Amino acid sequence: MPGLNEVLAKKSRGEKIVMLTAYDYSLAVLLEKAGVDIILVGDSLANVVLGLEATSQVGMAVMLHHTQAVLRGVKSAPVVADMPFDAYQPEGSDALKNAEAFMAAGCAAVKVEWFGRCLEVVAVLVKAGVPVIGHVGLTPQTVEQLGGFKVQGRTDVAAEAIREQSRKLEQAGCVAVVLECVPEGLARQITAELHIPVIGIGAGKYCDGQVLVVNDMLGLYDRKTPKFVKKYADIGAEVVEAVKCYKKEVEEGVFPGPQQTFL
Ligand code: KIV
Repeated sequence: MPGLNEVLAKKSRGEKIVMLTAYDYSLAVLLEKAGVDIILVGDSLANVVLGLEATSQVGMAVMLHHTQAVLRGVKSAPVVADMPFDAYQPEGSDALKNAEAFMAAGCAAVKVEWFGRCLEVVAVLVKAGVPVIGHVGLTPQTVEQLGGFKVQGRTDVAAEAIREQSRKLEQAGCVAVVLECVPEGLARQITAELHIPVIGIGAGKYCDGQVLVVNDMLGLYDRKTPKFVKKYADIGAEVVEAVKCYKKEVEEGVFPGPQQTFL
């Protein structure tokens, strides 16, 4: 499997970058087998794995724990860890120490969401040689300040702000930008303006790549999923059917049968 730089170079060849989240060993093995370019240990694990309401509820210890599990399942695909919000505030946290913990575990980069003092943090990490992916548009860690989970950049002023943030992240040395939940035209413009790859989620087809939350696209999350999610499988329904079958066989004394029994 190519490393992160090779994957990011796909932009210059006009090839799309395929990114998906994973949060544990088993799924990481499957994503790499399927040829996913970049595996993101997203802080969306707060929602889809831990059942919490907000991604800001997950901290460094939990993110590192799951990142290590993903890394155990991956042979060579680049793994990117989401920095939990509390882990990279300029005051009261140790952003560099936390980023370096992900890198020491074997990550290829860390991801940080845009917020007021984002560029200060990115500058520190980049200076220390940590590859950083920025995240703009709908940034779930600070979603209350954005008016909730809704499309961002609809007005000229809001669109210009997201363009500016993207440009500044590139200038600050980010290796890529995730662009979430913006109109297709804005995403197309930003993708054309930046030299680094723009990986979209809910940002239309003109981005350099796409990312989705794996539990959403596999039908493994029971709560409401955004309009931009396409369900490629309904594994949740298959799990229910399989477990019902197991239940029935246990209750009827069919399982375990001779094949599962030691004599
Ligand atoms: O946490 C996450 O899964 C993410 C992706 C949705 C980009 O940030």
